[in-house]
Amino acid sequence: MYITSTLVILVYLHTFIDECLYINIPIHCCLMSFKEKNILVVGGSSGIGLDVVQLLTEKESSVYVASRTRAESWSPLVKYQELDVMENRGLPGDFLPEQLHGLVYSVGSINLKPFSRVTEEDLIQDFRLNVTGAAMVIQTSLKALRNAGSASVVLISSVAARTGMGFHTSISASKAAVEGMAVSLAAELAGYGIRVNVVAPSLTDTPIAAKLLGSAEKREAAAKRHPIGRSGVPSDISAVIAFLLSEESSWITGQVLNVDGGLSSLRTNL
Ligand SMILES: NC(=O)c1ccc[n+]([C@@H]2O[C@H](COP(=O)([O-])OP(=O)(O)OC[C@H]3O[C@@H](n4cnc5c(N)ncnc54)[C@H](OP(=O)(O)O)[C@@H]3O)[C@@H](O)[C@H]2O)c1
Repeated sequence: MYITSTLVILVYLHTFIDECLYINIPIHCCLMSFKEKNILVVGGSSGIGLDVVQLLTEKESSVYVASRTRAESWSPLVKYQELDVMENRGLPGDFLPEQLHGLVYSVGSINLKPFSRVTEEDLIQDFRLNVTGAAMVIQTSLKALRNAGSASVVLISSVAARTGMGFHTSISASKAAVEGMAVSLAAELAGYGIRVNVVAPSLTDTPIAAKLLGSAEKREAAAKRHPIGRSGVPSDISAVIAFLLSEESSWITGQVLNVDGGLSSLRTNL
């Protein structure tokens, strides 16, 4: 009897782990529950945001996406709102549900230029896309986030906000502003049960990084720059975003998590 039940449990666990590996979800993610949670992903049509949408859909969350275009791979259950954050109007009041348990702002740019060629327009565009856009979306979602009783906001910065890299002045300035806005918001919203955290990735293989990873030589050079020996893939970042959205991180707020293959903190070639 004892041996039979042990065998049944082992077979169940084995199948469970196999399924997690098959759909490419890190095992620890399987412990997180998003069932009946309403989560908004701004910029969920591509790259990191799209990976977050897929992960949350697999975990039976109700997913809301705002972006300029739709992705064909979304589940038909995804609720979509067309939005260009450059118009600075946030989300329309009737799009969001009564309660919003999570918000991910995965919109951004990688416009690299020598400082001598950076224009005022470049600086303003990057700021609007990364900072003002996020602020307007959070502001128009605030009521629904507060209604949830416990909610999590995740913003995306960049390794370049705090690690000096040539040609990054405009994007570094905006991403540093994202981090500054996040800690202030985390303080202001903690009393409402809303956590605010930031993920700071290094170079990750998504459409905005295509120019930087567009040849075998560029990929090899990028891999060598990272102590872990490779550049990132969207699931490296989406797994951490999912953790920050989940109840498992309920005591983490006002933090910036570097997800960068060790680039920002390690020197392995001494
Ligand atoms: N990939 C990297 O190497 C890397 C490194 C560091 C930080 N990051 C940050 O990671 C985040 C996600 O980037 P990603 O790599 O996933 O890029 P991506 O594949 O280009 O995705 C960007 C998303 O933002 C949306 N978006 C862009 N402009 C928009 C606008 N004006 N209004 C509304 N939505 C807009 C896009 O959707 P539509 O085109 O449909 O609007 C898309 O869904 C960004 O904050 C980026 O700065 C990326």
